[in-house]
Amino acid sequence: MPRVGQGSDPPGNLSGRRILLGVTGSIAAYKSVSLLRRLVSLGADVTVVMTDAAKRFVGPLTFQTLSGHPVYDDPFDPREEILHLTLADAADAFLIAPATANTIAKLAAGAADDLLSALALSARCPVLLAPAMDAVMWEHRLVQRNLEALREAGVTIVPPETGALASGLVGPGRLASEQTMVAALEGCLGGGSWSRERVVVTAGPTSEPIDPVRTITNRSSGKMGYALAASARRRGAAVTLISGPTRLAPPLGVELVAVETAGEMRRAVLERVEKATLFIMAAAVADFRPRSPQPGKIKKGAAPLVLELVPTEDILTEVTGRCEGLFVVGFAAETDRVVERAAEKLKAKRLDLIVANDVSRPGIGFGADENEVTLIDRGGGVLAVPRLPKAAVADRILDRVDALRRSP
Ligand code: PMT
Repeated sequence: MPRVGQGSDPPGNLSGRRILLGVTGSIAAYKSVSLLRRLVSLGADVTVVMTDAAKRFVGPLTFQTLSGHPVYDDPFDPREEILHLTLADAADAFLIAPATANTIAKLAAGAADDLLSALALSARCPVLLAPAMDAVMWEHRLVQRNLEALREAGVTIVPPETGALASGLVGPGRLASEQTMVAALEGCLGGGSWSRERVVVTAGPTSEPIDPVRTITNRSSGKMGYALAASARRRGAAVTLISGPTRLAPPLGVELVAVETAGEMRRAVLERVEKATLFIMAAAVADFRPRSPQPGKIKKGAAPLVLELVPTEDILTEVTGRCEGLFVVGFAAETDRVVERAAEKLKAKRLDLIVANDVSRPGIGFGADENEVTLIDRGGGVLAVPRLPKAAVADRILDRVDALRRSP
């Protein structure tokens, strides 16, 4: 049976993988239809298992048509012998999305009174849960206790998002985005062309103290660096994300090292970069810091306050000076003569590739969801990447890294 959207997305490491998609009785069940289409378009072979409650939200025929497989809901289904074993044995991963509080409680208790819960107990493949429920339920300590029990049992929880809920409330409990769930699956399945890569990425601003209350920082949100970390993870790399203060949740499966100052970022980088195969410096590290941060809050007076600022250590230059053979990607945040200045930095810091962005332009760069960059490599190549969401820009940057390393 022809599958909807097959092959419309570039094959990730889901291509050819057998995914069990469990759907339970949440209003978010309708989103599983689009998730199924996305997984099929990435080349996955998906079989859907539903609870009775789920069928009150979305009919099985929809899933059967999109997956090209029968939908299963009955452990005593005459079509297959010992169904919970045969389906579980055949799967590379089992994603339950959405997962209701009831299903979470049953799984945490080891119950197996329907096909979906029996499968979760029989599966030898990675099991992932993407909860969806109202904020009050999500925050209930019994739900959180059940989730903790499942984490301890090795289940991957794909955290819900915060936003508008079916109840009209705004809060945590919205089903994670498709991209997050796909990334979680890809992260669990490993493989991928970068499975031997160890990538260190820096992201976000640094925050340089003036006194215990005040700091000097900048407008970096971390989105560009986090997108690069997620993209490397999706390719199967082991990823360490060294991040200044941001409001972002780290991508699933990525090691997060949180820092504040340029000095802390420098130490965190130098401790980890020796073992890396790729280093990407996307962070907006403060170029200057107060020479003498005060131990007590500086009192406001009539006289102007004069701060003496001193340069911070140049982390990138220190890394390229120490780590021969490491592929190093830097960024250049410029407001004029962007490509020219970036090319100068590429040379001065002895980089393999530099990502130039014009941070004076509205809608790209600092804080924006999109970016538009020019990739300049040490062989003189120049590649313009049009304005795209930062996740797509990150993929283009890593594609360019791949191409450069294949043809040194
Ligand atoms: O975080 P977002 O909101 O998504 O915004 C993304 C971004 C605009 C921050 C990002 O695209 C970007 O441009 N990051 C680099 C910002 C920066 O500091 O650029 P720069 O031209 O000032 O520094 C050049 C390079 O040296 C950068 O790789 C920087 O990380 C590095 N650097 C800077 C200072 C320092 N003390 N040590 C360094 O290694």
